[in-house]
Amino acid sequence: MSQTEPLSVGLTEAFIQLIANHTGLNIRERDQANLSEKIFTRMNELKILFPELYYQLLASSTIYSHLEWRKLVLLLTNIESYFFRDKEQFNLLRNCIIPEIIQCKQNYKTIRICSAGCSTGEEPYSLAILLKELIPDLDRWNLMILGVDINQEALKKAKRGIYTAWSLRSIEPQIMQQYFRLINNQYYLDKQIQQMVKFKYTNLVKDSFTQPYSEFRDIDLIICRNVFIYFEASAIAKVLDKFHDALQPFGYLITGHAELIEQNLSKFHTKVFPESLVYIKK
Ligand SMILES: C[S@@+](CC[C@H](N)C(=O)[O-])C[C@H]1O[C@@H](n2cnc3c(N)ncnc32)[C@H](O)[C@@H]1O
Repeated sequence: MSQTEPLSVGLTEAFIQLIANHTGLNIRERDQANLSEKIFTRMNELKILFPELYYQLLASSTIYSHLEWRKLVLLLTNIESYFFRDKEQFNLLRNCIIPEIIQCKQNYKTIRICSAGCSTGEEPYSLAILLKELIPDLDRWNLMILGVDINQEALKKAKRGIYTAWSLRSIEPQIMQQYFRLINNQYYLDKQIQQMVKFKYTNLVKDSFTQPYSEFRDIDLIICRNVFIYFEASAIAKVLDKFHDALQPFGYLITGHAELIEQNLSKFHTKVFPESLVYIKK
């Protein structure tokens, strides 16, 4: 089959399965035409004439396959994000969850937070701003805020810390004034906040979190929002297990609303707040 013909039903299904296994992403029926376009875009770039050969490249476990996944993922992922997205959940974090974590950690002065599927950084930076606001003696604390994502272009943007007004559309004016500088219509994030967050390329589905020296351990709070809505149920289950292992006992997991429907949550307590459900490692 050449690039002038559409992908066959069988091959489309094979690509969908391969993508789900590798990234967790669930390609819906209405997005299938779009998927073939993306596959042909990558084939053109690589000068591959037959989709079967492109499939073989992705399915192989070579360095070329690894590099190609990084490129294809850029076309498959939705990286929409903005500061303080879902004000209610951020109010809950500000008023209840983060103060409770700070209180528990007064002696050790160590807090470990992960934004999983952090995209261009707005979410972990919003958490850094919250911690800065809530901890007066911040210098005496050992904080880790880790943003992880599978989209390397999003991570590059996250590390730059420069945003348009669109990313700040939900931010309070006082926070905007205090933590951003406006230069040529772009908002530059305060350097101290920037330095509080570390970013790392991670595939939540494929990567192991338990390698020696992994940063993904003893986490107090994992926030993974607007990621699972794009995932297949079995991939969500797999990632939930990894989150469970990475959390401290009684560590918190926050997802987007209704993102864990039909999941087995027996390893977590579910706590109901008016603002959101929150999951706590048993
Ligand atoms: C819509 S954004 C959500 C950003 C942020 N959490 C928020 O709520 O504003 C979804 C992010 O999940 C990332 N993602 C998708 N699949 C992933 C995977 N398997 N591993 C890590 N990140 C993934 C995408 O690259 C994207 O940046």
